[in-house]
Amino acid sequence: MSGALLEASGLRKSYGRIAVLHDVSLTIGADESHVVIGPNGAGKTTLFKVLTGELLANQGRVVFQGEDVSRLPAHKRVHRGFGRTFQVARVFGKLDVQDNLRLALEARTRRGNPLASVSREVAGALAQRMEQLLVDTGLERHRRALSGSLAYGDRKRLELAMVLALEPAVLFLDEPTAGMSAAERQATVQMLLRVKQQRRVSMLLTEHDMDVVFGLADRISVLHYGKLIASGTPAEIRADARVKEVYLGDEGSHA
Ligand SMILES: Nc1ncnc2c1ncn2[C@@H]1O[C@H](COP(=O)(O)OP(=O)(O)O)[C@@H](O)[C@H]1O
Ligand SMILES: [Mg+2]
Repeated sequence: MSGALLEASGLRKSYGRIAVLHDVSLTIGADESHVVIGPNGAGKTTLFKVLTGELLANQGRVVFQGEDVSRLPAHKRVHRGFGRTFQVARVFGKLDVQDNLRLALEARTRRGNPLASVSREVAGALAQRMEQLLVDTGLERHRRALSGSLAYGDRKRLELAMVLALEPAVLFLDEPTAGMSAAERQATVQMLLRVKQQRRVSMLLTEHDMDVVFGLADRISVLHYGKLIASGTPAEIRADARVKEVYLGDEGSHA
């Protein structure tokens, strides 16, 4: 193994006869935030789905912790340590934030045996982990709020907390700040930085807001018409002439 947590190589994906990903290779290092950027329609979401297993690539491999997971469906990749929020979040609207988190934490502890009782010792450990999740995702103030009544940004935090309850090794987020105000985006960046520091989780994100991209990324890959045209540190990407030409333009001079 090369030391990468996840290594994707030679990925190709078509929808019918339309080729959307052409020979895409990318790695996610341990403790790395890797952000994929590119214009609308570049293939970011398709790449995301091929990595998470929601779609299978037509060609190429995804190797995670040394194991080829290319043919595994999404839920099996979740068992291997992939963390991702689903479009329809498994959040119970009539339960409060704490109870939703408790269920997520217990589900993991019981490991598929819903009737197993939880000892007092385990319950104490779970309570501690719940506190940490509430702190990391900034939900402490809302612990007693019914999940169904949360504001959009807080609901997103809860979804993330539910995923983190499974203690993934790598977190996948497709445009996590879509639909947010500038203030919410800023708060999301701060939260993800805190989560990363506290939990040592690697991340693969797609994102179009450049403040978010440069606020979070250890590494950036640029997709253009389904091809990776550059991959490097934020400084390298900002200085890349091709990236400036096709995508960043003046935005490359962002802070
Ligand atoms: N399910 C699908 N069937 C057919 N074409 C699709 C499908 N999903 C996406 N596409 C097309 O694939 C290309 C890449 O889409 P997508 O991966 O969503 O890009 P991005 O996330 O970068 O905007 C686009 O041209 C889009 O119209
Ligand atoms: Mg997309």
